[in-house]
Amino acid sequence: MSDLQREIQRRRTFAIISHPDAGKTTLTEKLLLYGGAIQLAGSVKGKAAARHAVSDWMELEKQRGISITSSVLQFEYDGYCINILDTPGHQDFSEDTYRTLMAADSAVMVIDAAKGIEPQTRKLFKVCAMRHIPIFTFINKLDREARSPYDLMEELEKEFGIGTYPMNWPIGCGVDFKGVYDREKNEVLAYTQFHAGSKAIHATELSLEDETELRDMLGERLYSTLRDDVELLDGAGYEFDRELVQSGDLSPVFFGSALMNFGVEQFLQSFLALTTPPMPRLSEGTPVDTEEPFSAFVFKIQANMNKAHRDRIAFMRICSGRFERNEEYFHVQGDKPIRLAQPQQMMAEERQIIDEAYAGDIIGVFDPGIYSIGDTICSKDRRVCYEGIPTFAPEHFAAFERKDTMKRKQFETGIRQIAQEGAIQIFHEPNTGLEEVIVGVVGVLQFDVLEYRLQNEYSTAVRRRGLPYENIRWIVSDTDPSSLQLTRDTKWVQDFKGNDLLLFGGEWNIAYTLKQNPGLELAEFSRN
Ligand code: G4P
Repeated sequence: MSDLQREIQRRRTFAIISHPDAGKTTLTEKLLLYGGAIQLAGSVKGKAAARHAVSDWMELEKQRGISITSSVLQFEYDGYCINILDTPGHQDFSEDTYRTLMAADSAVMVIDAAKGIEPQTRKLFKVCAMRHIPIFTFINKLDREARSPYDLMEELEKEFGIGTYPMNWPIGCGVDFKGVYDREKNEVLAYTQFHAGSKAIHATELSLEDETELRDMLGERLYSTLRDDVELLDGAGYEFDRELVQSGDLSPVFFGSALMNFGVEQFLQSFLALTTPPMPRLSEGTPVDTEEPFSAFVFKIQANMNKAHRDRIAFMRICSGRFERNEEYFHVQGDKPIRLAQPQQMMAEERQIIDEAYAGDIIGVFDPGIYSIGDTICSKDRRVCYEGIPTFAPEHFAAFERKDTMKRKQFETGIRQIAQEGAIQIFHEPNTGLEEVIVGVVGVLQFDVLEYRLQNEYSTAVRRRGLPYENIRWIVSDTDPSSLQLTRDTKWVQDFKGNDLLLFGGEWNIAYTLKQNPGLELAEFSRN
């Protein structure tokens, strides 16, 4: 195996997705701990006040006094090189969150055992399912009162239409939580002592055959429940099938407690063994092998990472080969050779300028305003062009116009550049002037961010008018939009690439419009 192959084979790049408060930050922190990235992780405390305004990792950064404001954390564990991608789950939930999933090879879905599937888990899952990436489920907070594990599994299967396979099984919950049964090893991992902050867990491993010890440890009731559960699980349910896991059709499920650091390392080990290294991506319909010369695509652009300078960082996911700092590459959409300025990577505790990186890694480069989401950067010798990143349907809409009529240029430039970063989407009514721009966002906080940035960065005060639409669909059939029969709360708009779309006041309206207009086809994502 060449050095290049070896480096790529040991990479695992994934995102952790969850509804706020399910435990994503806590789990991330514990995973970092196993990588030796943080020596002594205390539980993440006292973040109540400002938590909703900033991303989880900025929050972590404040509390731990380390710089981890970034889109990705990299650490080493057991010979693997692991990249965890941040998917903000709070009010800063935005298009970015979705796009980050485009750069991941698999996803870990954290679910609160008392709550089950929640709205944001649902949204994020949809994107993972669209990409058919493997999805691992970590059912968290077993140290608290929890719903029945059978219920939780059934909910996952019913709502998401996937198979589930419990890798371990909880024994009790809340004050009665005694540990988990590892199905593969046929072993009970029982807690004898909780050490939430330290790496070592004090657990006893007992085989199911150690009947006397188990009865003593679990008590008669939990012991017999466990025996029944194991019998039931072995007798019914899904067979474990690695291929189904890899196509995203079967989710391995783990029960544990991130806060108590219980089941986390077992989860990490299984996860690493079951996920694949980076796989070939499609360039114009043809897979590009990961060992081909360097190629990458931009999945996120973040402005103002450093408040002192008005800088933009473009984050790119490397799809093939090795990136070298001083090499000249090619920016496909710009049709220009390019050197990537100040390539940075997060190495768990610090952001640093890097000299090289491999397929699977994420690098952030300084963006003088030339990149757009979805752009491809590749070796000069091997031109590729990755498929664009879909545009996700915004869910909130408002009309923006400038207060000062003299500021037309600033307003248009500002709104266009911010849209280019992908935090907002912009539309306009066909056949009208561009005085008013319709802005669509995935998370409402983006409206405030837009207003603030137009004022601060482009010196343009704006007026905002909320619009009563909730759903948007791209027209994908050959229909003439001006001939459509639409209700009063449905509006025809165009995006700035000239695509026709419809805005709807509610879900029922979509069905109604489709019924009224035979032949009309609508799509939830735009592919270009
Ligand atoms: P998030 O990133 O998904 O939003 O969740 P986060 O990790 O911030 O966890 C949300 C809350 O749930 C935190 O408590 C955290 O301590 C708690 N938590 C996470 N995992 C577990 C677990 O396995 N068991 C229990 N019992 N609690 C868990 P908080 O009180 O909201 O915050 P804090 O003040 O403790 O930081």
